[in-house]
Amino acid sequence: MELPERGLGTMGIDDPDPIETAIELGYRHLDTAQIYDNEAVVGEGIARAAVDRDDLVVATKLWIDQLDRVAESTAESLERLGLECVDLLYVHRPKGAYDPDQTLPALADLQDAGVIDAIAVSNFELADLERFIDVLGEPPAANQVEYHPLFQPTDRLAHARKHDYPLVAYSPLSGGRVGTIEPVVDVAKRHAITPEQASLAWLTAKGIHPIPKASSHGHLAANLEAIEVTLEAADLEAIDGLERERELFPE
Ligand SMILES: NC(=O)c1ccc[n+]([C@@H]2O[C@H](COP(=O)([O-])OP(=O)(O)OC[C@H]3O[C@@H](n4cnc5c(N)ncnc54)[C@H](OP(=O)(O)O)[C@@H]3O)[C@@H](O)[C@H]2O)c1
Repeated sequence: MELPERGLGTMGIDDPDPIETAIELGYRHLDTAQIYDNEAVVGEGIARAAVDRDDLVVATKLWIDQLDRVAESTAESLERLGLECVDLLYVHRPKGAYDPDQTLPALADLQDAGVIDAIAVSNFELADLERFIDVLGEPPAANQVEYHPLFQPTDRLAHARKHDYPLVAYSPLSGGRVGTIEPVVDVAKRHAITPEQASLAWLTAKGIHPIPKASSHGHLAANLEAIEVTLEAADLEAIDGLERERELFPE
């Protein structure tokens, strides 16, 4: 799937205004999930924005207790979103009721029926990804993982590149903490940009698709403008070389 370069993470957004603003600013990929409890809010923002539905990539995620009732649960999500179809439907985590031999064929049935455009996965490790390929005979349309200067799962990036599907980075601003990470701040100063823009430009340079969450007009616009930033090899290496921390969202 051709994913737009910049997506909007919506976890914690409980007001349609930032969704509408984001679309009007130029965001074309919106990421929600059942567990964020805001599918209706995201749907309202989409309905208000003056952009054709077909020009948007709308993604939601089935929570781990819904993975044995895929068809019913997806219908409930679509009802909340006010949409007839989602572009990407994620398995949020390969946990709980997840059974690859049941869950994945059920998702493929929805795809055949045109209820979803593509099947995606999130928080999948290499073994989970290989199992996906074994069951469905092709790689997922995307894998969404935590990826930012303090947490760099390069094995998942290598898998995505090898199988030619997009890697989507969640928490790409280290949950809003990149402004405190020295090498990121140094790169930002060299380019007269913010540390948040430096982090997004670093991800984009790797071909990763970040989905920063932002609620103010200023943050939404700044994150979109970062698409224009080109970093140099030395900048990329400085951030690549950071000490890794624990995940912000462990199992
Ligand atoms: N698949 C999963 O398991 C999973 C797990 C976690 C998250 N996610 C997805 O990833 C998205 C993003 O991750 P996240 O919400 O954890 O964190 P994030 O995007 O790394 O950081 C969001 C924080 O950064 C702030 N911010 C945004 N743009 C900024 C800018 N230009 N300058 C300064 N601060 C800025 C936001 O503030 P304001 O809101 O005030 O603008 C917010 O506090 C989520 O919304 C969700 O869609 C997925």
